[in-house]
Amino acid sequence: MDYKELVKEAFKALENAYAPYSNFKVGACVLCKDGTTFYGANVENASYGAAVCGERNAIFAAYSNGYRKEDIKAIAIVTNGTKNVGYPCGICRQVFCELLEDETPIVLSNGTDIVITNIIEILPNSFSSKDLE
Ligand code: THU
Repeated sequence: MDYKELVKEAFKALENAYAPYSNFKVGACVLCKDGTTFYGANVENASYGAAVCGERNAIFAAYSNGYRKEDIKAIAIVTNGTKNVGYPCGICRQVFCELLEDETPIVLSNGTDIVITNIIEILPNSFSSKDLE
């Protein structure tokens, strides 16, 4: 599956977003090296702080099914028709810092543009398990 197809899969996940408060839908798809895909969408709550982002739901789904960072080929994260692609929030970057390999492609799209980045690029000088040694 190429990045364009992976973005298409992430848009399928976006359809399942539960975002009645922000009306801002995010979809994500994790592609594993064996071809397995895991989907995630943002899920909000009347207690706003209880919302979970789409990309975190997708990567947690992969981990919950036994996949680990070395098994993951790429993740796509999409928003629908926004002016710019949606970069992951700070909490999601911290989660990716732990759960993705440094160079794993993070593919962002708003349906028009595609940006390919990785966690080293978007979370430099991170705090990680290494700092706990
Ligand atoms: N959101 C995501 O799903 N991913 C991000 O990286 C940024 C924000 C969601 C959370 C909330 O449901 C909505 O977008 C507005 O913040």
